[in-house]
Amino acid sequence: MNVLILGSGGREHTFAWKINQSPLCDKLYIAPGNAGTQQHGTNVAINPMDFEAVKKLAIDKNITMVLVGPEAPLVAGIYDFFKKEVDLQHISVIGPSAKGAQLEGSKAFSKAFMAKRNIPTAGYQEFTQATIQDGLAYIEQQTPPIVLKADGLAAGKGVLILNDVEEAKMEFSAMLDGKFGAASEKVVIEDFLDGIEFSVFVLTDGTDYKVLPIAKDYKRIGEGDIGLNTGGMGAVSPVPFVDETLMQKVTQRIIIPTVKGIAEDELEYKGFVFIGLIKVGEEPYVIEYNCRMGDPETEVVLPRLENDFLELLIALSEGTLKEIDVKISEKAATTIMLVSGGYPEAYEKGKTMTGFDKVTDSLLFHAGTKQEANKISTNGGRVLAITSLGDDFKAALAISNKNAALIEFDKKNYRKDIGFDL
Ligand code: AMP
Ligand code: GLY
Repeated sequence: MNVLILGSGGREHTFAWKINQSPLCDKLYIAPGNAGTQQHGTNVAINPMDFEAVKKLAIDKNITMVLVGPEAPLVAGIYDFFKKEVDLQHISVIGPSAKGAQLEGSKAFSKAFMAKRNIPTAGYQEFTQATIQDGLAYIEQQTPPIVLKADGLAAGKGVLILNDVEEAKMEFSAMLDGKFGAASEKVVIEDFLDGIEFSVFVLTDGTDYKVLPIAKDYKRIGEGDIGLNTGGMGAVSPVPFVDETLMQKVTQRIIIPTVKGIAEDELEYKGFVFIGLIKVGEEPYVIEYNCRMGDPETEVVLPRLENDFLELLIALSEGTLKEIDVKISEKAATTIMLVSGGYPEAYEKGKTMTGFDKVTDSLLFHAGTKQEANKISTNGGRVLAITSLGDDFKAALAISNKNAALIEFDKKNYRKDIGFDL
């Protein structure tokens, strides 16, 4: 079959690398892709949010599966768009309907979804401009840190954690006044949970589910987990502190009720549920749902998956997931993300990258890169994920670190302490 992957990050390069290994894949297209994805398929310069362009490409190239990388097209309803057009109905879209994507697209929706089935998560209240006074009074009763969340998608910037009540009140008002545009017309105020984070990835056809390898990413720009939040500076899989007892709790209290809830609420979901979790004491709580795979988590999850990934996605779309045994490698995987100096604030693009030929023993997953003639240059904040496998995460990290030093570009930055807290 011909497959189309939407997106342009390290996640999508990893999807392309894995799908290209499947004997079931004839032609592979990536839109828009990057310098790495074109090693495994054909890049097509269209924006995944331009559904008409995606439709034209799908018809022209006889695509039968569209694997959606990022959340924005899912929240905007790309699944539903393909479903309602007669000439597109034979194409399976991997991802939820717009209704299902609300698990990520609306914090208020996901909190209500969890509350309905007692899925453990932080206590919360939601407010709008009409209830701003109640919100300010609610904040005054809280002991900091105070967690404010824009209801809608805000490019990963919509969560503020404040240590001061007055500052929290100001930020809360600013959010309702449009700090994040329509995304913060509604604001969720959550109890602060103190613990260590990890992520679980579930593939569901809306009835059955399979659990992919668990992972932990490192979001802060600075070593020791300080400084601004980024899309993710590195990741490890598996996560040493997640033992069988904790995973049992996650399965019983979180995964099973989540999949049941998706069926009960008729969310029409054939895709990934990425559950961001926090371990508080010995108990797991949900921080957030995402309706897609993580980046850079995909760069450590898929290299440990021993199945034919495309076969798994076909089973997902046909509702036969139950018949598949997911096989996961015993090896540990780590990834280190090289980023442009300045990221996640202002940074320069177009820096020539060298050293690819010196790298041994790692998989290089491109994020913000582009190729012109024989030259690869930087084209984004996050540039390259260096993934390695080893007998444990320390062995894998040693390889990623060695190779991170060998790839060069002006103002390269990366964290040398991934896994420091494990
Ligand atoms: P989210 O976009 O919901 O994942 O939030 C971004 C980050 O904020 C998370 O990865 C956590 O590190 C942090 N965070 C979110 N909610 C809470 C909470 N209730 N308590 C503590 N930290 C939180
Ligand atoms: N690495 C976090 C995310 O993909 O949302």
